Amino acid sequence: MSQQDPIKQCQDLLKQIEQETNIKAEDLRIKYLGKSGLFKNVSAMIKDVPNDQKKLFGQTLNQLKNKIEEKLVSLENSKQDQEKIDLTLPGKKDKVGHLHPISQAIEEISQIFEKIGFNRVRYPEVDFDYYVFEALNMPKNHPARDEWETFFVDTKPDYKLGKMVLTTHTSNGQVREMERLKSKPPIRMINVARTYRRQSDATHTQMFHQFEGLVVDKGINIQNLKGTLDYFAESFYGPGTKSRIRPFHFKFTEPSFEVDFSCHICGGTGKRDDQSGENCRFCKSGWHEVGGAGMVHPNVLKAGGIDPDVYTGFAFGWGVERTYTLKKGLNIDDIRLFYSGNLEFLEQF
Ligand code: DAH
Repeated sequence: MSQQDPIKQCQDLLKQIEQETNIKAEDLRIKYLGKSGLFKNVSAMIKDVPNDQKKLFGQTLNQLKNKIEEKLVSLENSKQDQEKIDLTLPGKKDKVGHLHPISQAIEEISQIFEKIGFNRVRYPEVDFDYYVFEALNMPKNHPARDEWETFFVDTKPDYKLGKMVLTTHTSNGQVREMERLKSKPPIRMINVARTYRRQSDATHTQMFHQFEGLVVDKGINIQNLKGTLDYFAESFYGPGTKSRIRPFHFKFTEPSFEVDFSCHICGGTGKRDDQSGENCRFCKSGWHEVGGAGMVHPNVLKAGGIDPDVYTGFAFGWGVERTYTLKKGLNIDDIRLFYSGNLEFLEQF
């Protein structure tokens, strides 16, 4: 190369660059301005240029440099223009989220009860021993407390209300609601909150949700409880779903019951509906157990300042997660998935 006239070479390059059409801007930059690019090569020839031509050579080099840069800009621009007008490119869609399935269930459950005059409330999820146990007819050291695998909070106990605990059930809202209403029924409360127990396996999470109903007024009886359960069963699981109450024991209700709902997958028969005679895939006997209920114990009414000789009430409480998975006919292997933040799981709801 150095055999040729450097100025002539520079001029050739000036022409050559004009003809560069089918090249990407980035490739052009490398070809001309790169470390071993053509511009660098030609400028290195300055040593071969006689002194009286050095000025002309310098000017030509400058021209060349400007030309390369011009070309680069025009290539860049034509690329941007293309992008601007490419109507065939697919549009960018925003991802649309939705409420967490458990939030959806809480909304639906609340609305069902609000329709028949229940008042949705929320009470502390870290509460005193008094509201969680003692006011519910479970004196200190009573063995019934062991059923609730309680997390205790390491704070100084209140001399009247005792230690603080993570609420093991939403029943702590019962006496709190009586106090809020200054012990004056009627009370129609639905309390939905997080609850906590020392348990963690495929069917239990340390944090889960419960909802608690409480109705107190003159003349409230078991029929009112049963009617409310039937109403919920039909509204939440669909027409034809029935409720059933079985005798049980809770310290804060007398009498106490366990509540079952008929399986809405097999219509409560316990059999598949294909005449195969095989058992329903989802239930064992046509029923699902969901939670507890009963007539409010006189001691609980007293703790809330309400005269049990004048007023009676019923209460019920059970888990949102279980109530919801039953509705969907879901056999979720691991209930902890609900709180794993796993989008592939959550996006299905
Ligand atoms: N609190 C009970 C539990 O977590 C459930 C329960 C049973 C609530 C009976 C009630 C009730 O209001 O009357 O296991």
